[in-house]
Amino acid sequence: VTGAAAVPVVAGIPFLRRGREELAARAQERLDAGDERGALVVLLADVDDWWPFEVPDAAACGRAVDAPTLREAMHHLGYGPVGDYFAHRWSDPTFLSGLGLLEAHARGAGSVFELGCGIGHLLRECAARGMAVAGGDVVFSKLWLCRRFVCPSARLWCFDAADPIPLADGEVDVAVCHDALHYLPDAAHAVAELRRVASRAVLVGHAHNADVENLSPGSPRSAAGWAGLLPGATLYDDAQLGEALWRGESPRPRRAVELGGAAAVALALGRAAGDGPSFADPAPGAQLRPNPLLGPGGTIAWPSERYAQEYGPLSEHLCAPPDLTAAERARRRLDLDLPEAW
Ligand SMILES: C[S@@+](CC[C@H](N)C(=O)[O-])C[C@H]1O[C@@H](n2cnc3c(N)ncnc32)[C@H](O)[C@@H]1O
Repeated sequence: VTGAAAVPVVAGIPFLRRGREELAARAQERLDAGDERGALVVLLADVDDWWPFEVPDAAACGRAVDAPTLREAMHHLGYGPVGDYFAHRWSDPTFLSGLGLLEAHARGAGSVFELGCGIGHLLRECAARGMAVAGGDVVFSKLWLCRRFVCPSARLWCFDAADPIPLADGEVDVAVCHDALHYLPDAAHAVAELRRVASRAVLVGHAHNADVENLSPGSPRSAAGWAGLLPGATLYDDAQLGEALWRGESPRPRRAVELGGAAAVALALGRAAGDGPSFADPAPGAQLRPNPLLGPGGTIAWPSERYAQEYGPLSEHLCAPPDLTAAERARRRLDLDLPEAW
């Protein structure tokens, strides 16, 4: 189309973020000059509008491109506590709840799309279980970390959830939004889009409850408020979904009136095939390594006080008796399938 802004595609990620036309033009200029690394450095410096840390300069972004590990790359990008969150997400209770939701509603799916996918932890778990995975996020560097370290096979787009999801109607079996809907500018629009692109199930995990205090609440709603966005959905106490996963129990559907005290709720409309590899146990062929949070004798070294405050009280799964079987250790996330270059 004459006059249409260029959409630079860097590391296989189309940059569709609204309000960033000047940045997109600079990245496209680098691509046109045959300088893909330069285009990557330009886009890695982009942050979200509420980023509280220093914005990385071109030199720092260059060091991130050359970093041999995920944690070093996040360090150069100045992720701070967000880097702790992503580095240790594999065993945090709000991630286990996402796996619990997938366990209950997405087993056997052929394809999954995640809105607000961060650096792709859930996408990695789905891909390891044979699913075709796709995701979108508003922060380009997160998607690049996904591509480079966490889940290279994912189809990815950088776009704002206020815009349409770049997929056709019913293109994926399952559409997910986990620990993100409360941060999105228009949750009703996002849910309508998730419904449009999913043919089998729409899953919303860890949506903050406005009736309970939260460290970084975003725009929370009450349990009934979230339920109103997805009529007919099965509701859960998000924390119970995670606990059920590692304890090997079934999650308990709840009514909205029973969820007043839940810190976060989860919702599921529909179900995939119901068969296929479990999300509770390691994916077929997974190479497990000891959880880096655990020291000698099972002591836990939290990465920060804030992290310990937020997740410590909800991490009973990590306080394990010494005589567990390998399968039990894996279920409790004492041993993990970390990315090779974690
Ligand atoms: C708490 S993180 C959760 C990431 C991932 N879903 C997970 O569970 O690991 C929330 C994510 O939502 C993304 N996000 C926030 N606002 C967004 C927007 N307007 N459009 C798309 N993504 C957004 C953030 O960049 C971030 O990666």
